[in-house]
Amino acid sequence: VFANVVRAPEDPILGVTVAYNKDPSPIKLNLGVGAYRTEEGKPLVLNVVRKAEQLLVNDRSRVKEYLPITGLADFNKLSAKLIFGAESPAIQENRVATVQCLSGTGSLRVGAEFLGRHYHQRTIYIPQPTWGNHIKVFALGGLSVKYYRYYDPATRGLHFQGLLEDLSAAPSGAIVLLHACAHNPTGVDPTLEQWEQIRKLMRSKALLPFFDSAYQGFASGSLDGDAQPVRMFVADGGECFAAQSYAKNMGLYGERVGALSIVCKTSDVASRVESQLKLVIRPMYSNPPIHGASIVATILKDRELYNEWTIELKAMADRIISMRQQLFDALRTRAGTPGDWSHIIKQIGMFTFTGLNTEQVAFMTKEYHIYMTSDGRISMAGLSSRTVPHLADAIHAAVTR
Ligand code: LMR
Repeated sequence: VFANVVRAPEDPILGVTVAYNKDPSPIKLNLGVGAYRTEEGKPLVLNVVRKAEQLLVNDRSRVKEYLPITGLADFNKLSAKLIFGAESPAIQENRVATVQCLSGTGSLRVGAEFLGRHYHQRTIYIPQPTWGNHIKVFALGGLSVKYYRYYDPATRGLHFQGLLEDLSAAPSGAIVLLHACAHNPTGVDPTLEQWEQIRKLMRSKALLPFFDSAYQGFASGSLDGDAQPVRMFVADGGECFAAQSYAKNMGLYGERVGALSIVCKTSDVASRVESQLKLVIRPMYSNPPIHGASIVATILKDRELYNEWTIELKAMADRIISMRQQLFDALRTRAGTPGDWSHIIKQIGMFTFTGLNTEQVAFMTKEYHIYMTSDGRISMAGLSSRTVPHLADAIHAAVTR
């Protein structure tokens, strides 16, 4: 009965890893998926995560019962504090509904399903370009997806004018997806002044902000600094959605731990919103897994572990910055590599949006065994001092052929 099923294409990001795994070459390099690697090219489990896990193992009172549909209560409170700030009026006034979800993607999807059922304007504007999965998450979640201009290939920076024009032209009440920091894939973020202009425009048109916060701690090097744009939208008293992921900043990729928070106008509304979120979650996956959320809660509630986490997080962010510098230096000092590569050091977060086109990417994969997404995005976190020269050679060859 399934004879007519057509083979689906691989995922544009995770499929890169599938292709990489099949390549027998000893010099192969995976710069596709945004996952942190050490200088030795190995995945990293943070020390603080190992410590938290040990504490959890040693606690014999812990059981493996189901969590509530909304997840671990401590985790939800601490996650809201992490993104909105401990002093946030929304938290103090008890008007945030937070539910533990399956990392960033799950949080976005639960948010989309809720909006599809309870919000009058089912159009979401997403940046052009954006993380490839956003389109499918929101479309399959029941929203109609439109784009706003975000990136200007000519300047390799923000298309601020285009962004303002497109949001001004959006219908009143439309939802707007915003990357809280370290925009994926471009590495280009608005300045705080630009954020303020975006906020004013959006509030004047009653546009609903939906933040995707997958890289808190990776952009400015400070958890509070990276949450600033979100906090600006909460400080004005309006509604706001925030999807958080602990995949990158705690290295908990496979634990699938994240949270969706909906900031409401009153505590009564927040509690009704939470009751509806439960109706979204229960038929999808019943309730979320306990282990990852327990690790996060253990770290966030203990001052010493929290401080240790911020140090390890900063070390990851700093290593990425040093990779940017090394790659930039390698291209600049090499005789004859055309182009201005300063965007490598200007862009923020895990990724460099190189400007390499699909053919150049295909060439680098075929000839140099370097794997990256076809839009020319490279995960700087996958690079090391040892592999920078190989990448610089490949870029040189690709742009001079
Ligand atoms: C990425 O953009 O590489 C990450 O967010 C991983 C993913 O799930 O796509």
